[in-house]
Amino acid sequence: MSFPAIDPIPLPAPIWLMKLLSHVTLALHFSAVMILVGCLLLVCWHNSVGHSKKSSEQVSASFVIARRMPVLMTFVINLGIPPLLFVQTLYGRAIYSSSVLIGVSWFSVILLVMLDYWLIYRIVSTIEGGRKALPLALLALFVTMGIGQIYAMNMTLMLRPEVWQAMYQHSPSGLQGYHGDPTTTPRWMFVMCGGLVFGGLWALMLSNMGHIGDGIKKYLRTSGGCMAAVGALLQIGCALAVTHSQPGFVTEALGANMLAKVGGLLFVATIAVTALVAGLQGLKAISNIPLAVTGLLTAFLATTGAVLYRDGIRDATLLHKGYNVWNQPEYANWSVVGLFLLLFVIMLVILFWLLMVMKKATAPNETITLNKTVEAGR
Ligand code: HEM
Repeated sequence: MSFPAIDPIPLPAPIWLMKLLSHVTLALHFSAVMILVGCLLLVCWHNSVGHSKKSSEQVSASFVIARRMPVLMTFVINLGIPPLLFVQTLYGRAIYSSSVLIGVSWFSVILLVMLDYWLIYRIVSTIEGGRKALPLALLALFVTMGIGQIYAMNMTLMLRPEVWQAMYQHSPSGLQGYHGDPTTTPRWMFVMCGGLVFGGLWALMLSNMGHIGDGIKKYLRTSGGCMAAVGALLQIGCALAVTHSQPGFVTEALGANMLAKVGGLLFVATIAVTALVAGLQGLKAISNIPLAVTGLLTAFLATTGAVLYRDGIRDATLLHKGYNVWNQPEYANWSVVGLFLLLFVIMLVILFWLLMVMKKATAPNETITLNKTVEAGR
């Protein structure tokens, strides 16, 4: 079909290694995106209900969540870059074509991410000033979900070479979208519902910070635990919808793909445990570090399983259309691969060190008193 000619430069590392690194970094990217989506939802809820009930504690719960969102956003972006590099290297002939076809919306992601970042900072300062942040938080949620839609659109279009020619003839300037594909909405919904899961688990984790009051903890636990449990059930529904929306040849190929089957099973097993662990904490408004970490770990494993399954869908679809990802020339440059891995480990060590520094730092005051703000010590 219409895949451009093969790239004359061979792949600089073995395909299996690139796929492995792509899966790990994409699972991390998805986790960060999902935490961000869930945090925005919780901020909308706690801030608006807190203001209408004039509950300083509930508004403070929204502040505890919002205050960490700018840092979260850096993780969303920085953990998005490695999978972007891997997807371009492994599937360049597919993703470059689809990105050009929807070039205007694809490039608009850069502006939308900047807008999102700005909104997130505004949310924090608005809550800190004791003002209502619902409109800003809703707008940020809308922008974030919109960015996700553009990604879902491109990741679907890259699998549809049969429509590229007609789309190019329709608009060579890239001022168009790709709509009507039955697989796009379920895969987008899957990540958005994951927002309920990860955002809730993140709130449970935050509820274990020693310096926040019991009232704030209770709000974070009840809302976080219940939201994560409901989100896990919804995500199972979305996973089924993703599978059922695939064409017959893909479902058939997935049945014969061991890695995709392992991914699917891993997802089902770990998302069920996540729902239980989160539901328990939410209904009883209790939490502790081991429980909160278990929830986040099982949710991360579920996401990894989904990433493996998603990869199976992509490879099966492209293979059927004449693109075999495994059939590309490779010329491993081991010194560069080694340097990459070394830098990766150094980054992990630095992250660990930063977390230790944070742990030793003086705890900030995160209490918001309505109409009168207690200065948040940063
Ligand atoms: C708020 C910002 C963002 C949101 C909400 C978001 C959301 C998403 C979603 C929903 C997908 C899955 C699409 C699908 O498969 O259907 C995705 C995939 C992806 N995202 Fe993000 N994303 C964001 C920012 C970024 C940034 C800044 C980058 C890169 C610098 C990035 C890189 C990627 C890549 C490379 C993939 C697909 C990787 C693959 O298929 O192998 N994302 N993102």
